[in-house]
Amino acid sequence: MNFWRNLERPIIVLAPMADVTDPAFRRIIAKYGKPDVLWTEFVSADGLFMGGYDALIKDLEFTQSERPIVAQFFTSSPQMMGKAASLARELGFDGIDINMGCPDKSIMKRGAGANLMKHHQLAQEIIRAAQEGAARLPVSVKTRIGWDKSELETLLPALLQAEPALITIHARTRNEMSSVPAQWEHVKRAVEIRNQERSETLIFGNGDVASVADALRKVNETGCDGVMIGRAIFGNPWLFAKHPPTILPKEKLEVLVEHTKLFEELLPHKRFAVMKKHYQAYVTGWEGAKELRRKLMDAKNASEVASISMLARPFVPME
Ligand SMILES: Cc1cc2nc3c(=O)[nH]c(=O)nc-3n(C[C@H](O)[C@H](O)[C@H](O)COP(=O)(O)O)c2cc1C
Repeated sequence: MNFWRNLERPIIVLAPMADVTDPAFRRIIAKYGKPDVLWTEFVSADGLFMGGYDALIKDLEFTQSERPIVAQFFTSSPQMMGKAASLARELGFDGIDINMGCPDKSIMKRGAGANLMKHHQLAQEIIRAAQEGAARLPVSVKTRIGWDKSELETLLPALLQAEPALITIHARTRNEMSSVPAQWEHVKRAVEIRNQERSETLIFGNGDVASVADALRKVNETGCDGVMIGRAIFGNPWLFAKHPPTILPKEKLEVLVEHTKLFEELLPHKRFAVMKKHYQAYVTGWEGAKELRRKLMDAKNASEVASISMLARPFVPME
């Protein structure tokens, strides 16, 4: 059941991103350029079982085309993590990931996310609870190098003791948020620590990777088993394609409309404004893009986006 063991290495995966890797965008990515593994955005395990089930369960929808797919949860409660993992198993996910890196105040206030880097024993209990709830499904962890400096020397052995299938290291501290370049030498060190500990846990690196070619260079430099790519997917669902095609602006516009329709169909409970950051990324790099972006920013629904795009088509470059 540990699907990670069946994948050819290096393994190149899509990062979980709240309000980005939602069911709509995941379907688009699976269609145009599928990574080795997809991730959901993070979902509150507490929220699922304390009143928010009906809304949050929609974030956990997926299609067969997205497999293998991992559900990510956050909480500071081993009990809630166990329940979330068990739900993910029932829903048919291939793996469960625990967020131990999110620096957002709202998550940290609840003792979850990056806060768990400060509480090794609780972090271990949460991993074990997930393993129990997940039965035979693999459980992984996504974390950072430390709080305000690298704490890998203590954090990593503690996490490895709980035997997660995979640990992804976002190569920044919690305090660095995303404001300094990722420091990949720490991913190399993480691999060394894993080897010293004679652990079978896979180590992935994450942070500022621009393309699959860039990811492969990072694998060579650090010896990590895989790479997780996040923001480079914005406006480029072809990112993970085996042979990335040259995409014409006209094609980007077509996919933008397809993506918007799916968003409206699958996620009616979400604010339409969530789509706007995608428009910024899809519509760029040609004369007239700015004006078209401005119009799309004012759109209120998918049919307005389709009309605006249709009217713009004659003015979008063919190459
Ligand atoms: C909009 C946005 C939402 C994010 N949401 C999550 C999340 O839900 N769970 C998580 O573990 N990390 C989340 N992250 C962090 C990313 O997974 C990733 O670690 C970070 O963007 C660095 O990778 P990159 O440079 O390839 O983007 C988010 C990042 C962004 C930009």
